[in-house]
Amino acid sequence: MLQKLKPKMLLPLALLALNANVASAQSTTRGPVDPGVRAGSAGAGGALANLSSGELAFFNSGLADFTSQEFLADGLGPRFNLDSCGVCHSQPAFGGTSPAKNPLVDVPGRFPANVLPSFITAQGPIREARFRSDNAVHSLFVISGRIDDTGNATACTIVQEDFATQLQNNNLSFRIPTPLFGAGLIEEITDKALADNLAANATQKSSLGIVGRFNRNDNDGTVTRFGWKAQNKSLLIFSGEAYNVEMGISNEGFSQERDETPSCQLAKLPNDTTTVDALTPADAISGIEKFTFFMRFLAPPAPSQIAPGGQASISNGRKIFSDVGCALCHTPTLKTGNTSVVALANQGVNLYSDLALHHMGSGLADGISQGLAKGDEFRTAPLWGLGKRVFFLHDGRTSNLVEAIKAHRSLASATTVGSEASSVINNYDGLTTTSKQDLINFLRSL
Ligand code: HEC
Ligand code: HEC
Repeated sequence: MLQKLKPKMLLPLALLALNANVASAQSTTRGPVDPGVRAGSAGAGGALANLSSGELAFFNSGLADFTSQEFLADGLGPRFNLDSCGVCHSQPAFGGTSPAKNPLVDVPGRFPANVLPSFITAQGPIREARFRSDNAVHSLFVISGRIDDTGNATACTIVQEDFATQLQNNNLSFRIPTPLFGAGLIEEITDKALADNLAANATQKSSLGIVGRFNRNDNDGTVTRFGWKAQNKSLLIFSGEAYNVEMGISNEGFSQERDETPSCQLAKLPNDTTTVDALTPADAISGIEKFTFFMRFLAPPAPSQIAPGGQASISNGRKIFSDVGCALCHTPTLKTGNTSVVALANQGVNLYSDLALHHMGSGLADGISQGLAKGDEFRTAPLWGLGKRVFFLHDGRTSNLVEAIKAHRSLASATTVGSEASSVINNYDGLTTTSKQDLINFLRSL
């Protein structure tokens, strides 16, 4: 299974992606072709319509913090993946996901004690690494030897993880960033709406082998929904965790440093806190709350009615998506509850996900357990914004939607059952090339 993740094996897929635009001009007799990232404006990254002026002030304050770079004096590190939220979440606009050109490649140049792990490549996706042996994220880089733009230098001497050995030992699994557009709407879908949706179309689901279940918070029992395995309850908790995991900045949600080596602590603990004597509320709240308001108030991505392939192809593709059974997991629309933010209340959310976990077979299994999610279970990935995405599936193994669909069909192994999506992919295989192309065009219109 890890074979697929070896850089050597990834190269052909990466080339395929670069050639996607060229390929689309050629004959389609060989099957459907992913036309690649949709041209035109980002159609994402702005605030929800109908925010009050106060809400907009919180969105803007959050955007500024989300896109700012963090330095040693802010508490960056000692272990970290990157020094800004906005750089990992940047395609096609701030709040998005991994850009085509990998910003992690530059880190060793700026932080001298590091080498670039072999699974981080210039044309490849931003990747976060987990060890299968402990399920946890292991930061890629250390601050040792760094003298930063603010003139701060560190006496820290901790050593970067030995990723080459971990890779050899088959102990790594990877995740790419998920996009955040519309995240506030996802946060406000009621558990009842989710449960009703999962229970719907029961006959059709069971005839195709689709089951699904929710990941849940241990203590209050409610549905958790963020992250590739729906492992996280809320944007606030995710922000606290991301600040500490991705940047090594401890905060009011996660007070302790992940590496407490004394010589590596350059800022007070926790590194980021509420500014209790600030002049405005939007300045007072701490970083993790600022990030939360930015993400909560981000508008969903705008789909295209006409590109790629024209209106007729896209609307036929939408029908096929439903006919073959994709929509049984990738639910087109769910509804939010009656929340206190007017712009988020009682809204249709066109996320294309049931937010449930499904067994995806041995080909996609990553061997990582989180909450109720086992090594072969993933949250149905929301498909809104797909048209502007460069990398697909949890580890970013492909840039080609045709490959992403094929990867859904996957067999059982000694430790996993077969993929719940296999029968739907059999239906897809039975389509004509034109119908498959309409389906791909529909996905790229999102
Ligand atoms: C090094 C790259 C990187 C940085 C920096 C980064 N993220 Fe992420 N982000 C990821 C990855 C990878 C995931 C998927 C994690 C998973 O599911 O295990 C993710 C997922 C998320 C999600 C879940 C969204 C969803 O619906 O699944 C949120 C929320 C988020 N990040 C917020 C933030 C915030 C806030 C910051 C800054 C404090 C941040 N991220 C910084 C890589 C990054
Ligand atoms: C059994 C539920 C299920 C069915 C049926 C299903 N999917 Fe998925 N889909 C998933 C899950 C779970 C993922 C995330 C898998 C991963 O990343 O390992 C996913 C991921 C994707 C992705 C990649 C999205 C991303 O964020 O990288 C695309 C594209 C996609 N599905 C399209 C389809 C299409 C088209 C069909 C129908 C032919 C389909 N899916 C049928 C559950 C399903």
